[in-house]
Amino acid sequence: MLTIGVLVSGGGTNLQAIIDGIGNGSIQGTRIGIVISNKPGAFALERAKQNGIRALTISPKDYADPSAYDDAMTGALREAGVSLVVLAGFLVVLSERFVSCFAGRIINIHPSLIPSFCGNGYYGLKVHEQVLKRGVKVTGATVHFVDAGTDTGPIIMQRAVAVKRGDTPETLQKRVMEEAEWVILPAVINAIAQDRIRLEDNIAYVI
Ligand code: GRF
Repeated sequence: MLTIGVLVSGGGTNLQAIIDGIGNGSIQGTRIGIVISNKPGAFALERAKQNGIRALTISPKDYADPSAYDDAMTGALREAGVSLVVLAGFLVVLSERFVSCFAGRIINIHPSLIPSFCGNGYYGLKVHEQVLKRGVKVTGATVHFVDAGTDTGPIIMQRAVAVKRGDTPETLQKRVMEEAEWVILPAVINAIAQDRIRLEDNIAYVI
């Protein structure tokens, strides 16, 4: 059984996709051990509670120094028996120290086709605003392993979504979520649960 810890900051629609995937059997052999938000009012926490999942708020603002925040996070995840950390709309930049504690066992969902429209400052609606400003015809979402950089770890799965004339950042975000994010994040978790991810020269493959 794969126990995951889901880190959230907002509405939790990606968390909901994971909850639904476990419920309908599209994600096998997986349980959510804990959901942790940096924001106390995040609706993602409500989604967790509605589904009987342990939910905590741990905010870096509540800790005198970054290592104390790291310790609080790693402690809560370890206590919950987590072996895979899933960043699902999580907006805190994790320290190298935290990443090294879960080396190779952290994944993130990003709402673009990395390496486009990613890195510092590219999150949430800002990504889709830049996609529309540049006039690209295809965007999408990416699930990747998290390393010490921002959106720089090995890409595991991507899914393309057409940009439509008249799209707003909001309509595009909704389509990318529905057609890409909520599909590939559960699929990657399922693949990890079934030990179907391989790394060759830092390139990830789903077998
Ligand atoms: C989404 O755009 C997701 O791609 C990004 O954070 C936003 C909110 O996600 N990572 P959620 O609804 O909180 O899962």
